[in-house]
Amino acid sequence: MDPVIRRIAISTGGGDAPGLNAVIRAVVLAADQLGWECHGIRDGFNGLLAPEHCLGEPVLRLSTDAVHGIGHLGGTILGSTNRGNPMRYPKSGSGGPIEQDRTDELVGLCRQCGFDALIVVGGDGSMSIADCLRRKGLRVIGVPKTIDNDLDRTFQTFGFDSAVGFATECIDRLHTTADSQHRVMVVEVMGRYAGWIALHAGLAAGAHAILLPEIPFCLDTVAQAIAKRDAAGRRHSVVVVAEGAQPLGRRRELLAAAGAGQAERLGGIGAWVEAGLGSRTGKECRNVVLGHLLRGGRPSAFDRVIASRFGAAAVRILARGEQGVMVALDGDGIVSVPLAEVAGRSRRVPIDGDTVHTVRELGICLGERNGRSPDKMDAGQPRW
Ligand code: F6P
Repeated sequence: MDPVIRRIAISTGGGDAPGLNAVIRAVVLAADQLGWECHGIRDGFNGLLAPEHCLGEPVLRLSTDAVHGIGHLGGTILGSTNRGNPMRYPKSGSGGPIEQDRTDELVGLCRQCGFDALIVVGGDGSMSIADCLRRKGLRVIGVPKTIDNDLDRTFQTFGFDSAVGFATECIDRLHTTADSQHRVMVVEVMGRYAGWIALHAGLAAGAHAILLPEIPFCLDTVAQAIAKRDAAGRRHSVVVVAEGAQPLGRRRELLAAAGAGQAERLGGIGAWVEAGLGSRTGKECRNVVLGHLLRGGRPSAFDRVIASRFGAAAVRILARGEQGVMVALDGDGIVSVPLAEVAGRSRRVPIDGDTVHTVRELGICLGERNGRSPDKMDAGQPRW
């Protein structure tokens, strides 16, 4: 591998998150200071693997002019996809969609384009791809992105703070209707396998129950908490539920099973909780799904700062000869951690961590079964 870097490429993969453009801008500006040429691969890796499907140039030169004024914008100027994983690339076969490994081809295409290094901005799936490309000889740096905040070895991913800020504002607003009309408002937020958004937004906005994927919940417990509030004259309740939360003994609510090269689609648990709480409490319950609203909009100041720091650090790390690592937030510092230690791992909410303890200490219901054994529950009630 030529030790001299002249040309680098950047790709943004998976679900968009506020701060992606700030990373792109930081990489381009920092690379320009070193005299490196920067290129953007459109739609994850599809600019190389399926250029015919890309609108505009599939691989574009990113000059400093191209990134002028984008740091505060949501989305990604490069586009993204959740259908372009080169390790599990979807291909139409006789029996329907099948998956194929196109990573060798991708490495070859990067070399043909003259890329001396690749900066992969993405979530857990993208870090696994980055690690695979590293093993196949590419010089790669990962940048941790996801509103879900579920990447291992970084204290925080960019996108999370913006999503929590917006979710908090939405829940604040829903308190008004809940309070005025003595209702139970159920708010479903994103969080496929980790409940960071539900936990932080629920705590920040004063939710009365928070249901996380990490703690299978008992709906009777939630109904009892609502009844207790009613008895104390507090006739409204707000329940925040992560899309991946799971009732005890029941599977997650799937909107669609995983297609070729894709993850399963979750959603619907809010409606299920709404119906179950309505029948148990006799109260008027309403469900609001925040869903993709949490991924949109402008990044918070915090996300703009860490996205810029991650982007600049990716270039700095390459310049000092390191590679095969992900940039990460550790306390107030940016560190590099081996991609091999991040790939295939995720960071779930520790149920004995300080924030969950705080939630318990504030009397917020987590739906934990309250010591009652299932056979002591009211006759006719489902046992979850
Ligand atoms: O990874 C972030 C995330 O927002 C998850 O919380 C959610 O399950 C998923 O993306 C939805 O992705 P898509 O838009 O591809 O269905």
